[in-house]
Amino acid sequence: MSTAKIILDGKEIELPVVTGSEGERAIDISRLRELTGYVTLDPGYGNTGSCQSAVTFIDGDQGILRYRGYPIEDLAEKSTFLEVAHLLIYGELPDAKKKAAFEQEVTMHTLLHEDMKKFFEGYPSTAHPMAILGAMFASMSTFYPKKKDQDLDIIRILAKAPTIAAFSHKKSIGQPFIYPRNDLSYASNFLHMMFAVPAQKYEVSPAVHDALNLLLILHADHEQNCSTSTVRMVGSSNANIFASMAAGVSALWGPLHGGANQEVIEMLEGIQAAGGDARKAIAQAKDKNSGFKLMGFGHRVYKNFDPRARILKKAADRVLAELGVNDPLLEIAKHLEEAALSDPYFVERKLYPNVDFYSGIIYRAMGIPTEMFTVMFALGRMPGWIAQWKELRDDPKTRINRPRQIYTGAKERRL
Ligand code: CMC
Repeated sequence: MSTAKIILDGKEIELPVVTGSEGERAIDISRLRELTGYVTLDPGYGNTGSCQSAVTFIDGDQGILRYRGYPIEDLAEKSTFLEVAHLLIYGELPDAKKKAAFEQEVTMHTLLHEDMKKFFEGYPSTAHPMAILGAMFASMSTFYPKKKDQDLDIIRILAKAPTIAAFSHKKSIGQPFIYPRNDLSYASNFLHMMFAVPAQKYEVSPAVHDALNLLLILHADHEQNCSTSTVRMVGSSNANIFASMAAGVSALWGPLHGGANQEVIEMLEGIQAAGGDARKAIAQAKDKNSGFKLMGFGHRVYKNFDPRARILKKAADRVLAELGVNDPLLEIAKHLEEAALSDPYFVERKLYPNVDFYSGIIYRAMGIPTEMFTVMFALGRMPGWIAQWKELRDDPKTRINRPRQIYTGAKERRL
């Protein structure tokens, strides 16, 4: 086993080096304080591995993303979202029998308890659907309080999340809730609950279905990002799965994380309203005093193209063409990307489009309202949060997550 030597106050200590299956290396500092009295300081965790995980691999320099070893490009092309969910949560793609059983189980739990429906009445019609999603997840623990039902609770979360999301949309536009249909696939059922209206025929367009399946898969996991680490953090205290997922929703909502997809569209609309000149937005994003960032650009881990953004850029052209939608925002987005990628500020900082840059344009073409975009991200991310939560809880070595700090406040004083 290789080790790292550190000399502190003249004392040399050796710490173990941990190597991952793709060769990434870490110095295991878990005994550093015990051995030396020192802790490490890494605000924003840019250089801290918080866990060992077998779920998702990212190589940010090369723009690689794999779920359980499978490249995202292959899964995006050949899988359904529930297959990917099975892969992430249980470690393997399901065979035909397991797939049918998993789909059936999820389908049988899509209904919300009728009492939960009443919660929607209390919200203003302007309520942001992320607030509703988080509150509903937390509320689920009151309906399913038994801790021993972990496997069933996983199914419940996956199954009911689309129903909650669609109901929150229906609430916002004042339409009656549309109940789930057991004869439809996961993606089709969500679209049905979102867009069907009583006494009117609604058929799910195959192009919209495929676009949704793709978007959900691309968002399904992304290793230790802000929301997933939050889910793990909360889960490490032995809080129930519903509380942990609710915390994930709150973390995802922020504009630097999943909330960026809504912000991208609002930014593109702003550029369009100001005459469509992408260069002005670039200049503003470079000006640190402007408080403006190019939303959908940059990433903590990717210093190359985000592979999800590559897939989505192509998909945006295809889906808009299939749906016969001509969205001027797509052209503005492409100009903006081109201008940014040839600008030294963005080149030097290795700032590339991320997953949120093109996803909103596809959601728009599918008829999903802007306020729902981050909820769509959350629906996709459910299997990842669940898989990471389960990995943490199934590991007997898990300890409550409890970082240290360097105190910088007042020294002891007396009244
Ligand atoms: N526009 C302009 N400048 C930027 C941007 C941007 N979008 N992103 C980073 N920079 C600059 C930043 O100001 C800094 O410059 P300097 O070195 O001169 O101080 C440099 O690039 C490095 O950025 P950072 O803020 O240290 O990077 P970070 O790893 O802390 O933050 C980020 C990553 C994603 C929060 C950030 O790039 C950002 O705010 N992007 C816009 C929001 C966004 O699109 N978020 C979605 C992320 S992907 C999906 C997800 O995870 O949810």
